Amino acid sequence: VPRPATSTDFEGILRLVAGRVYPTWPSQDPRNNARSILEDLIESATSQDEYELFVTHEQQDITGFLILKKQLTRGITGDRESVVVDCFTPQVSDRRQLFECATEAARGYDSHFLTTEIPAEDHHEREFLESLGFGLEGHKISVTTAECVMPKKSPYSVRLATPDDGYLIGVLSSSMLTHTVSAGREYDLAELTFRTMGNMMAQVARDDPNSVGLVLMAGQELAGHLLLELNDRFGYIYDLALAKEHWGGTAVRHLMRSGSRLLFERRIPLFVGDVSASNRRALVVAQRALGFAVECQRYGLPL
Ligand SMILES: CC(C)(COP(=O)(O)OP(=O)(O)OC[C@H]1O[C@@H](n2cnc3c(N)ncnc32)[C@H](O)[C@@H]1OP(=O)(O)O)[C@@H](O)C(=O)NCCC(=O)NCCS
Repeated sequence: VPRPATSTDFEGILRLVAGRVYPTWPSQDPRNNARSILEDLIESATSQDEYELFVTHEQQDITGFLILKKQLTRGITGDRESVVVDCFTPQVSDRRQLFECATEAARGYDSHFLTTEIPAEDHHEREFLESLGFGLEGHKISVTTAECVMPKKSPYSVRLATPDDGYLIGVLSSSMLTHTVSAGREYDLAELTFRTMGNMMAQVARDDPNSVGLVLMAGQELAGHLLLELNDRFGYIYDLALAKEHWGGTAVRHLMRSGSRLLFERRIPLFVGDVSASNRRALVVAQRALGFAVECQRYGLPL
């Protein structure tokens, strides 16, 4: 039966991971991957406020471990989530027990969901998670930024968003909630519409160089928006939407290429987003027309 790790387990854990290859993906923060979180947990007590470490053992030998991020809160929905950051053990039965232990702990924190991210195409892990009741919630996608060229004769133009655009961006974004909410989660849409309105208006009004919005104009009319959160490594798609009458044409490419160009000009190498597993349209267009690839997939267990 798994138990919380103590400092006497650290040596055994380090022996277990010696030579291990960690799964990585392009947008993952190297300072915040499973390996460095484990090292922090072992070296300093500070990260123990944020994370919990469980181990399985046979007598004195450590046979597996799991790192649980105790809780994070999603911005717009307010969902509270516990996250399995890493689970490593050669034995399937230990793995199952460690996940059951994490589920119990997550319930104890009053989390709504237990989630974990796995590399795309990891079929073993997928089957294992599904056997525990987890479902696919979404895909993390990314593409290298480029100095994209805009079509010369386009009915569209792109400009930076201003706080005055906030209301229309909020209306457009909240009208798309059925497409954008995470698969496998249920919400009161009236309440979420209200929260989305407020959140988008605040996001557009933020006076922060790392928050940028682009609006796509069809003449005088706002046809869509792309809100980005920037850091040194990537630009993250905070929100993307087109008005329905502009679906199926060149609008999405025009807007997203402008976004890629903006990131490229600021020397930000990667363009990153999260797409709900139920939003096939967005995934298909991102892959086919914009060259995005799926990096990893988020699975979630409602608690
Ligand atoms: C996502 C969005 C910006 C894409 O723009 P768009 O103009 O609708 O995209 P397109 O019509 O050019 O491309 C959609 C592609 O998905 C395909 N598609 C549509 N519905 C599909 C479905 N149910 N399953 C699989 N593919 C589907 C289309 O055939 C098309 O592919 P093709 O160009 O190879 O034929 C727009 O639909 C939108 O605003 N959606 C609501 C908000 C949203 O989902 N935002 C993204 C959050 S990550």
